[in-house]
Amino acid sequence: MLVTGIEILQDAHKNNYAVGAFNVNNMEIVQAIIEAAEELNSPVILQASQGGLKYAGVEYIAALGKVAAEKAKVPVALHLDHGTDFQQIMLCIRHGFSSVMIDGSQYELEENIAITKKVVEIAHAVGISVEAELGKIGGIEDDIVVDEREATFTDPMEAKLFVDKTKVDYLAIAVGTAHGVYKGEPKLDFDRIKAIKEAVNIPLVLHGSSGVPNDAIEKAVSLGINKINIDTDLRIAFTDAIKDFLKKDPDNIDPRKILGPGKEAMKEVIKEKMRLFGSAGRA
Ligand code: 13P
Repeated sequence: MLVTGIEILQDAHKNNYAVGAFNVNNMEIVQAIIEAAEELNSPVILQASQGGLKYAGVEYIAALGKVAAEKAKVPVALHLDHGTDFQQIMLCIRHGFSSVMIDGSQYELEENIAITKKVVEIAHAVGISVEAELGKIGGIEDDIVVDEREATFTDPMEAKLFVDKTKVDYLAIAVGTAHGVYKGEPKLDFDRIKAIKEAVNIPLVLHGSSGVPNDAIEKAVSLGINKINIDTDLRIAFTDAIKDFLKKDPDNIDPRKILGPGKEAMKEVIKEKMRLFGSAGRA
């Protein structure tokens, strides 16, 4: 069933576990996520980035997400990841997304508060929940590029002010992760996660979570992370399996046979993440 993001994340916040938000660009990815969620009886968030919407079209992503959610036996939210364009956020709401992110992290605090507040007011009026970002997460997520030197960690007191003023439902924080493939091992600022959680007391979101060691993820969840974004690890699983298949069967021309192993490989990774995040069995 299709539910709002906050319906899923409120339970995770109360019961101290996290739900995976997996990036989708096509039907195979959507199916892999939903099958994994159903097999493990886990709530799940399907999310599309602006790059994903550019690739597939908002109508296609919305239709795929809604059909998948309506058919699913577990709660599913359809979320816009890193929305930076007001018009596009409105379009996603109009097309039936049940959660949107307004990423105003490129602005100064006052402007980030103003744009986030505007989106929250509109989204809440039609029953849609909202994620915002405070601090700046480094790395590359499709068309958003933040140089590591420009990344800035989230300040707990600023986070409290931000949440009080905007009434945002869940907050993406910058605590040492980055989008894309890591060069070295990421070092998370656990004290900061704890301090932000104590200050805001709402669900917290970890971006750039592919490649973060399992023990660091577990600790982050125990300190208050409730939504964990995964894209790169799914891409790697998908393409590695397809490369493998084509190496063994280079003359195969059937897209179903070629994409099938990619989907299965992604599904296994998603199931591992659901168990690690503690969302398995929570639907
Ligand atoms: P990764 O690509 O590092 O998994 O990050 C995904 C993400 O945070 C999407 O917003």
